[in-house]
Amino acid sequence: MDNLTPMLKQYYSIKQQYQDALLLFRLGDFYEMFGADAEIGSRILDIALTSREMGKGKTLPMCGVPYHAVESYLAALVRAGYKVAICEQVEDPRTAKGVVKREVVRVVTPGTVIEPQLLEDKANNYLTAVCRQQSHYGLAVVDVSTGYFAVTEIKGEGAEDKVWNELERLAPAECLLDPSLDNDPIWKTEADRRLNCAVSSYDERAWRYAHASDALRSHFGVKSLASFGLDDAAAAVRAAGALLSYLNDTQRRILSHITSLSVYSVESYMLMETATRRNLELTETLRGGEHKGSLLWLLDETVTAMGGRLLRQWVLQPRLDKGEIVERLDAVEELVKNTPMRTRLREQLARVYDMERLVGRITYGSANPRDLVALGKSLQQIPELIRILAGVEAPRLKELGRRLDPLPELTDLLQQSLVESPPASVRDGGLIRPGYSQELDQLRTAAREGKDWIAALEANERERTGIKSLKVGFNKVFGYYIEVTKANLASVPEYYQRKQTLANAERYITPELKEKENLILGAEERAIQLEYDLFLEIREQVKAAAPRLLSLAGAVSQLDVLGALAEVAVRRRYCRPQIREDMVIDIRAGRHPVVEAMLPQGQFVPNDVYLDDETAQLLILTGPNMAGKSTYLRMVALITLMAQMGSFVPADEAQIGLVDRIFTRVGAADDLGTGQSTFMVEMSEVNTALSQATPRSLIIIDELGRGTSTYDGMALAQAIAEHIHDVTRARTIFSTHYHELARLALTRPRVKNLRMEVLESGKEVIFLYKVAEGAADRSYGIHVARLAGLPKSVLERAKSVLQDLEPEQPYQQLRLDAFFLTGASKGDSITGDNAGAVKQTAASPSAWQVQQELAAASDIPEDSRGTEILREIEAADLVHMTPFEALNRLVEWQARLRNKEK
Ligand SMILES: Nc1ncnc2c1ncn2[C@@H]1O[C@H](COP(=O)(O)OP(=O)(O)OP(=O)(O)O)[C@@H](O)[C@H]1O
Ligand SMILES: [Mg+2]
Repeated sequence: MDNLTPMLKQYYSIKQQYQDALLLFRLGDFYEMFGADAEIGSRILDIALTSREMGKGKTLPMCGVPYHAVESYLAALVRAGYKVAICEQVEDPRTAKGVVKREVVRVVTPGTVIEPQLLEDKANNYLTAVCRQQSHYGLAVVDVSTGYFAVTEIKGEGAEDKVWNELERLAPAECLLDPSLDNDPIWKTEADRRLNCAVSSYDERAWRYAHASDALRSHFGVKSLASFGLDDAAAAVRAAGALLSYLNDTQRRILSHITSLSVYSVESYMLMETATRRNLELTETLRGGEHKGSLLWLLDETVTAMGGRLLRQWVLQPRLDKGEIVERLDAVEELVKNTPMRTRLREQLARVYDMERLVGRITYGSANPRDLVALGKSLQQIPELIRILAGVEAPRLKELGRRLDPLPELTDLLQQSLVESPPASVRDGGLIRPGYSQELDQLRTAAREGKDWIAALEANERERTGIKSLKVGFNKVFGYYIEVTKANLASVPEYYQRKQTLANAERYITPELKEKENLILGAEERAIQLEYDLFLEIREQVKAAAPRLLSLAGAVSQLDVLGALAEVAVRRRYCRPQIREDMVIDIRAGRHPVVEAMLPQGQFVPNDVYLDDETAQLLILTGPNMAGKSTYLRMVALITLMAQMGSFVPADEAQIGLVDRIFTRVGAADDLGTGQSTFMVEMSEVNTALSQATPRSLIIIDELGRGTSTYDGMALAQAIAEHIHDVTRARTIFSTHYHELARLALTRPRVKNLRMEVLESGKEVIFLYKVAEGAADRSYGIHVARLAGLPKSVLERAKSVLQDLEPEQPYQQLRLDAFFLTGASKGDSITGDNAGAVKQTAASPSAWQVQQELAAASDIPEDSRGTEILREIEAADLVHMTPFEALNRLVEWQARLRNKEK
């Protein structure tokens, strides 16, 4: 160490404080990295690794990037998951004695970037902090690019699961863990696995309550945290305080755009497992993870980036409070009905830039003149927005209209001070409008007059000297000069002072020319400096208005989201859902929003849904492959979710009894994309639903038991369905190819059977995509396989295996022989409403089955006493009876049998 040059000594003393970051060390026009940092940097940035003498013949690896291009290099390092400490020269090298003073001015981490090239327009960039206090968790989240700062405390049963859900919903770019979690190997691994972001620990002191609460109080300038509602929330305080300290440490500036801390509860939002968000394809598709094809893609008609971010939040956080939902729906409805207003509103909003992030950059002092002009232009749109909203009725629109604060002084300031399209750089002048500063105008006039004088000089001197070829020119070394060719040297007047000799010309100056030159150059230099100072001054004034600007931006975002929802509703003919406090979900002619949008217009077959807690709590949906079961299931979940985010829904009519949680389990075959198609995953997802669902919840189970053998799967599916019916009592739709499950409707009053209708015509199966009551009578799996082109021999073999396997299934593969083996149509047969004859045959085996069961259970002698009743049972169309009807018949039969016994 002792032999190091003073500069390297300085480097090492700084590097020691930033061991977990790559240190970019400013040396003149470069940022240099040394040692191990240089090796990493040169690899990621693909730049040459050189070396620097360390003395005594030792060398140190080194690489560097030019200061003016640092942003793109920075972006690459951060994207690769590194923290980068930027170390600047903090004194003027020309006046410094000894080594120039250097300091780290900011540590850029994945969760604290504000550089536009590192950010996605329509998604937040979150930094989160989590701490654990006994069984409580505190979770704080900040987006430094927008100033959003929020915290929640999660406790009680299943708290840890909720924390994970919330973290996965936020999908942070960086997550801090308190020491107790950081030292917990399970937590640490889970965090790495589930969050796919930089997970780091942070100074133990910062997490202590006293320290954290001090950090919060001093940032917000308050004496107590009671005003935030945080007096009893130690875990929340610790998480939020640690997050703030981390920001102070790394950003090294006061983040004045973080103007408030909102305390929220995960309980006020519809809870969704991460699997549910994924299965419902809320923000990306299951396969391929693409935006296109997701619900967000469909709904995103927002015209501002801010609105896009807010819409994403709404999609991921449907509400539970009817009041809030209805307020949103009222606003959307008014915008739907008033197309001229909606159109004007959206046109006006489209002229507003990303004010939140502009304010973020202004606070960071990295906003350039163009950013300020963009902010100014955005502000100019506000008065017209206020006019557009002048006559609105919906309370939410009224409130947002009132929140539109036009900030007239700031609008004027920006409009009057900055030119229309300034350069991006603040150092070269050309930013400030004439008339804004008298001093600047004078300097500019002086410079211009000087230039005019010089422009006139050439003509004047030619006339005075009679030298026709005399020229006035400028170069960087000598400034302005008068040039005379060698041929005319004789005519040069005496007061010309020779300055430079060229091959066939001489250059001269005059005292007057130099005087003007000083005036011009001095004035220009001073003007540029003055413009810079004025710019900083303006930026400071804008910064002081950050809280008002952010509140305005919040109102604008919400208007944008409401306008977008209304626009989608109109374009796609959605209806306003009616929100109910009871358990009824009643959807008429519902459509799956995304599948509908992907199909040619009018092709989607709408379907009804009815669920409640008395007669239709558990719907069992059967039907062949490809018939539309999964689509139907997801449709129900999506319509519910859209309604609760305040959106209109794809249906003719919809009544939605609030849902507190949506659970989904989609068939193993349907989520190959995640690489987790194991039976275990399936079971653990079902377990979550069974243990955590309430009667208010909605459970969607698509093809349970696919991942295991038929009989296991069937047994499990039935046991699970029974449990949901008897114990959990959540509204549930269950799709299955175990048709035996349809029997549950006979014994369970709140079970209803549904089937996807199919039309058979000869060899063809035509999918009608229509849901009807009653169970389907067969699975058609083999038929679909045939459609897919499997060899006939395989199909025939499958058929015979099927017969061996399921000899006494209640819903036998009727007439399959004729259908598959001959391949010929023995008269078209139809399942569905208009297929009375088929129903009859389909129903008889089940009647037979019931007969067997009855015989076993009630020990009816095989004599003539019961034959009449048995015949009735045989003839009864059980599949198409409601459970109640069936039960009534059963009561009647039993009564008659008992009568006979007497
Ligand atoms: N209501 C509908 N109207 C029009 N087309 C539909 C409808 N429902 C589904 N489809 C079309 O049918 C295809 C298959 O639907 P879906 O995946 O829901 O069937 P499934 O019964 O779940 O099949 P599987 O048993 O193989 O999982 C969809 O991709 C869609 O194109
Ligand atoms: Mg399916």
